[in-house]
Amino acid sequence: MPKLRLAVLGSGSGSNMQSIVDAIEAGTLDAEIVCVLADVADAKILERAARHNLSHQYVSCAPFKTKLDGDAQEEYIRIMKAAGADTVVLAGFMRIVKQGLLDAFPNRVLNIHPALLPAFPGLHSWKQALDYGAKVAGCTVHFVDAGTDSGPIIVQKCVPVEEGDTPESLHARIQVQEHIAFPEALRYLAADALTIKGRVVHIKR
Ligand code: GAR
Repeated sequence: MPKLRLAVLGSGSGSNMQSIVDAIEAGTLDAEIVCVLADVADAKILERAARHNLSHQYVSCAPFKTKLDGDAQEEYIRIMKAAGADTVVLAGFMRIVKQGLLDAFPNRVLNIHPALLPAFPGLHSWKQALDYGAKVAGCTVHFVDAGTDSGPIIVQKCVPVEEGDTPESLHARIQVQEHIAFPEALRYLAADALTIKGRVVHIKR
């Protein structure tokens, strides 16, 4: 298998991208990050990318507020293709991606979501879990489909919800598991170990 060529898209701190960088640098993930794109000009993910000498840039998604669509989508696809990306990693990219991107990278767009899907899709999922009174929470890495946080699940990790948790303390506990889950999912992809039947992902171990 040729090594994965990852385009990483983010909007925030980039700690998930960092976990992927760390796995690559440690030699436990056969992949290369070929570009890092952010829809927020001062997103910390861009600073992290710079620190690791990764090609990175802010690309506006205007006029859209919550989705990647239209000319902006075309521009993202153009940049990722020009960089030679074969896989798109949504690492805290806080926008809905549309069919055009999915068609440009079929079955090659992965997202991490801070909840045990299908529970708590959408925003601030750790807060949704806390407010709901869930006793376990966690994260999900999944293939992206045309819905919101609805694509076939690759890896999930659980954490307990502790008495006295705040949204921040629960999110921090979930993030520890995210940083294990995303490299793990990408390792399966790199090893060509994933097959999708219906909406079920089978993993050859
Ligand atoms: C992560 O917790 C990720 O699961 C979440 O944003 C955070 C980004 O953190 N993503 C979503 O909520 C997507 N709907 P990071 O920038 O430190 O990787």
